Amino acid sequence: MNAPARVAIVTGGAGGLGRAIAARLQRDGHRVALWDLDGDAATQAAASLPGGSAIGVRVDVTDAASVESAMHATLTHFGSVHVLVNGAGATGPVANVDDCDIAAWQRCIDVNLRSVFLCSRAAVQPMREAGFGRIVNLASIAGKEGNAQMSAYSAAKAGVIAFTKSMGKELALTPIRVNCIAPAVIETPLLAQMTSEALAASLAKIAMQRAGTPQEAANLVAWLASDECSFSSGATFDLSGGRATY
Ligand SMILES: NC(=O)c1ccc[n+]([C@@H]2O[C@H](COP(=O)([O-])OP(=O)(O)OC[C@H]3O[C@@H](n4cnc5c(N)ncnc54)[C@H](O)[C@@H]3O)[C@@H](O)[C@H]2O)c1
Repeated sequence: MNAPARVAIVTGGAGGLGRAIAARLQRDGHRVALWDLDGDAATQAAASLPGGSAIGVRVDVTDAASVESAMHATLTHFGSVHVLVNGAGATGPVANVDDCDIAAWQRCIDVNLRSVFLCSRAAVQPMREAGFGRIVNLASIAGKEGNAQMSAYSAAKAGVIAFTKSMGKELALTPIRVNCIAPAVIETPLLAQMTSEALAASLAKIAMQRAGTPQEAANLVAWLASDECSFSSGATFDLSGGRATY
């Protein structure tokens, strides 16, 4: 899966999945920009990758001006963009709908869904100019099944799945492919945001009786970011240890 000299952006690049995906894409020959709200962590994560070409960029993916400025910085540094992995996200409020704080619900929609719109919107033109584009969105099985007490996260991830379908159709006649993955539980710092009961309930549904690893997610994303992913667009790829049945 060599992709010489291609440029990949990974949002949430300082996070558990973002780091693993950035490392895998770098190994496959990409020059990688790790975008994250925590700019220092993104810079440190970039510096930890071998080769010395990766950069960290501070961005708030919920803010249009911040996304435009991060795209500008990335294009100024690398000259082009070929791959966008929308990985920034957060689980948001864990509460029944009637107890859910309205502002927290909206923040969860913004960080998980509005972010995908804003970053994808900014990436399409550079990808058209590059003559190649792969957008990979990190949705969740929560977006297919709906997790109790996680209505904002589930709704946002369902939105990401539908957004992926729309964009995949919209760009089908271009060299840009848009797909998403729907992981169940993957071993990352995000799990600390879940209650132990919610985590145990999610793990219990996985047929393989274990969490996935960030590397297993990165392997799938690497294929979706490659030339080999040519006839799939608008699709959702499960990564659930046998939990997903449809
Ligand atoms: N870990 C899992 O089990 C799992 C399962 C399904 C889906 N996912 C999805 O995968 C993605 C990555 O998850 P992870 O496990 O690596 O989480 P993580 O918490 O380890 O990393 C998330 C990263 O996003 C960044 N971020 C948060 N808000 C941001 C903002 N406004 N602007 C820029 N960056 C921001 C954080 O700083 C963090 O580095 C998320 O979208 C998550 O919903 C994870």
